[in-house]
Amino acid sequence: MSTWGIIGGTGLTELDGIELLGEDWPETPFGRPSAPLVHGRMGSEEVVFLARHGKPHRIPPHRVNYRANLWALQAAGVQQIVAVNAVGGIHPRLTTGSFCVPDQIIDYTWGRASSFFEDDLEHVVHVDFSWPYDAQLSARLGALLQARDLSYLQGGVYAATQGPRLESAAEIVRLERDGADLVGMTGMPEAALARELALPYACLALVVNPAAGKSSEVITMASIEAVIAQGMQQVKQVLSELIAA
Ligand code: HPA
Repeated sequence: MSTWGIIGGTGLTELDGIELLGEDWPETPFGRPSAPLVHGRMGSEEVVFLARHGKPHRIPPHRVNYRANLWALQAAGVQQIVAVNAVGGIHPRLTTGSFCVPDQIIDYTWGRASSFFEDDLEHVVHVDFSWPYDAQLSARLGALLQARDLSYLQGGVYAATQGPRLESAAEIVRLERDGADLVGMTGMPEAALARELALPYACLALVVNPAAGKSSEVITMASIEAVIAQGMQQVKQVLSELIAA
């Protein structure tokens, strides 16, 4: 038996097939997490679900209290985390509605509280972040996407941008030149904080739009929401299978 942490992004505020055990909204040394932690069971596994943007969805990416979120999950006994992120697709295979399980990340965010050691020079730890995502967990996610015959890219470089606006086309050209395959606003500092806590962490990214300049169409919230509605159903199924396995 193990305890799973699931961080739901835009469009994922609850899980399917979970036997609810209760909710709590703990105080941490960094404040409160984005939303109450939802504790549940799936088969013999325990699950703690957290809505990254709050419930209802109100907290923009640059205002998420990532430190409180990660701290609270670990304090709740979580042993591994799957983060769900809605992203823009840069790589040609990352078309709208497809998935990516990235294996690398580049951080373009700024001004976010991005370490548990920020004010604590005495105990500062320079964690190894060469491979930001847990390889085993990522491989399991990929296998489940494949088994469902979903379109996905195994591995890829996640560019974490500041938001809340979307990028300019020139910014996407730059990210692509840097090697980025997908772009989102919430991948960092979340991944680094999980590493500081030594929590295995993997990302399941749903492509909800072509990145800026990759299509002639204007990116609208309405078009993104339509993709999210369908894509997050598939995410829920993959997560149930991951946890129940
Ligand atoms: N850019 C950044 N973040 C995003 C995007 C995007 O195109 N789509 C969803 N989140």
